[in-house]
Amino acid sequence: MTAVSRALSGSIRVRAPAKINLHLSVGALRPDGYHELVTVFHAVDLADELTVTRAQRHTVRSEPAHGVPVGAKNLAGVAARMLARRSGLGGPVAIEITKHIPVAGGMAGGSADAAAALVGCSALWGLDIGRGELVRMAAELGSDVPFALTGGTAVGTGRGDRLSPVLARTPLQWVLALSGEGLATPAVFAELDRLRELGDPPRVGPVRDILAALASGEAAAVAGALGNDLQAAAISLQPGLRRTLRAGIAAGALAGLVSGSGPTIALLCADAESAGSVAAELAGSGTCRAVRVATGPAPGARVVGTL
Ligand code: C5P
Repeated sequence: MTAVSRALSGSIRVRAPAKINLHLSVGALRPDGYHELVTVFHAVDLADELTVTRAQRHTVRSEPAHGVPVGAKNLAGVAARMLARRSGLGGPVAIEITKHIPVAGGMAGGSADAAAALVGCSALWGLDIGRGELVRMAAELGSDVPFALTGGTAVGTGRGDRLSPVLARTPLQWVLALSGEGLATPAVFAELDRLRELGDPPRVGPVRDILAALASGEAAAVAGALGNDLQAAAISLQPGLRRTLRAGIAAGALAGLVSGSGPTIALLCADAESAGSVAAELAGSGTCRAVRVATGPAPGARVVGTL
């Protein structure tokens, strides 16, 4: 890695998207503690924004801060330190996160912040770093971090970190129902393993169905092909999610599913107008803490300005 003629002295502003898994097929538990996955990631325009500034020491602040890991546990800080160490060209940075992605919500908010930190620091320090190297570092940071760098719509295999882009013809309109309490990803995977030991909960169909639906550009076809093996486990841990899903469908959504490991519920709507009315009705239903509307696909982590 080389630098530094393009290094910047001010602050860099970076934005990174939340994701929904349109399809999430969970395979066997591997010896390394991860599950083999086949998933279709879909980035939406609900995004966190980070400001990265040179500083005397590494710090991370988030607004709002509730639930966001602090100190050495914050993945954005870990990402900045990793890039500084590997490149040998960076220094301490102050990272400020404006948090819009629900914390512990199954939308990869922490991964988005890590991807944003990689992109922001590499711009701040003027690193001449290839995309491949950045993606390798992203995969070390977490299974969902490579996708937060890439954005769009993509198939993920392995533990979700090996990506291939997907043709997705039209924008999809979503309503997101946020839960009052988060779910820890490892607990949801462990619950699925437990449910599978007890019996065999239904599994999602083949990934080709959702790929064909995306290529058709028909929201109704996409709605018919959505599926998530982690949904039964998330509902087992938060049974109230069933009510949220029912309320979303009753309000007019085409289909709904748990996003990733949950507990956020993603409801696919026919168009922006329908999303507006589903959001309004759901917000008054008493079945979730808050409601957001979002559109996908959205781009991956990117610099949006300097200060
Ligand atoms: O990669 P990441 O740190 O985001 O994963 C968090 C946890 O989620 C893992 O420690 C593991 O318990 C679970 N996980 C899994 N299989 C995957 C991805 C995550 O079991 N493919």
